[in-house]
Amino acid sequence: MTDNKKIILTGDRPTGPLHLGHYVGSLQNRIKLQNEYNQYIIIADVQALTDYFDNPEKVRKNVIEIAFDYLAVGLDPNVNTIFIQSLIPEIAELTIYFLNLVTVSRLERNPTVKDEIKQKGFERSLPAGFFVYPVSQAADIAIFKANLVPVGEDQLPMIEQANEIIRKFNSTYKTDILVEAKPLISEVSRLPGIDGKAKMSKSLGNAIYLSDSEEEVAKKVMSMYTDPNHIRAEEPGNIEGNTVFTYLDAFGKDKEAIRKMKDQYRVGGLGDVKVKKYLNEVLEELLGPIREKRKEFSKDPAEVMNILKRGTKIAKENAEKTMSEVRREIKLDYF
Ligand code: TRP
Repeated sequence: MTDNKKIILTGDRPTGPLHLGHYVGSLQNRIKLQNEYNQYIIIADVQALTDYFDNPEKVRKNVIEIAFDYLAVGLDPNVNTIFIQSLIPEIAELTIYFLNLVTVSRLERNPTVKDEIKQKGFERSLPAGFFVYPVSQAADIAIFKANLVPVGEDQLPMIEQANEIIRKFNSTYKTDILVEAKPLISEVSRLPGIDGKAKMSKSLGNAIYLSDSEEEVAKKVMSMYTDPNHIRAEEPGNIEGNTVFTYLDAFGKDKEAIRKMKDQYRVGGLGDVKVKKYLNEVLEELLGPIREKRKEFSKDPAEVMNILKRGTKIAKENAEKTMSEVRREIKLDYF
C-alpha cells in the first residue's frame, strides 16, 4: 500500500455495534472512497475506555462486533487498513506531546464533548481521560498524516480541534511534518432516532443496528415516530419531522414513489402502517445482504482477528515513521 494516494483516517469507538446513523453518516462515504484513497480505519478502543474504563469486557466485545460490521457493509480488508488503536502505543505517545499544545479552556469549549458530559451526567466526576479524548483523536489523525476524515456531523469539532493542534505543532517546532485534515460530511449527516429525537444513538436506545434481525427491524419500524396528530388514515398528515419519511428520503431509491406517498399523506388517505411497511422493505433491501455477510464473517472470528492483526501491523509501521519525525522535531532523538 505504498502509493501516492491521499490518506483517509476514520473510525469508530467500539462501545456498541454500528447502526443506520453510522451508515449514512460515514460508512457510505468510506465504502465509496475505499479504492480512491489509502484508507485507515481505527477501532478506537482507547477512546472507548475513556467512557467505559470500568467495563473493559464491553469494549473488548465490541471491537470484533465493529469489525464484523465493517466487513459486512463491504469495506474490503485488501484495500483498507483496519486496525486497533491500543496496539499502536505511538498514538498515546503523540497524545502526551499534543496535550502541551492545547489549553484546558479550549477543551472545555468543545461542543461535542460538552454534550456528552451533560448526557453522561459526569459533572464533578468527569474523568480527565474523557475530557482530553479529542487530543487523542487529534493524534489518531495526525500520526497517519490524514488528508480527509469521513465522519458524522457531531465529529466536526474534533477535526477542527485536531487541525488547531496540528498547526500549533508545526508553528511551535517550525516544521511542516504534520498535515491538516479535511472533514468529509455526508449528505444525510445526522439521522434521527426511531423515536424522532434529533440523533440516532445507542445511549438513547433509539437505534436500528446493522446487526438487528429482520424481526427486530420490522418491530422497530412499526414503532417509529410519525405525525402524532395523524390518527386516522383518511386524515391529512405532516411530513415535516415525520421520521418515517426522513428515513425514506435517506434510504429509499425510488424517489418518485416516495414523492407520491408524501403527496398522498399530506392530503389524507395514506395510513402510517402502509408507509412503515414500505420503509421496512426499503431497509431490508439494504440490511438483508449486510446481515447475510455479517453471519458469514461471524462464523470465523479468528480470521477477522487476523484481518485486524494485519491492518494493525501496517498501521503501526506508519505511526512509527511519523513518531520518529515528531521526536526529532521535539529534540527527543537522543540516540
Ligand atoms: N470519536 C469517534 C466516534 O465517537 C471515533 C474516532 C476515534 C474517530 N478516532 C477517530 C473518528 C479519528 C475519526 C477519526 O465515533
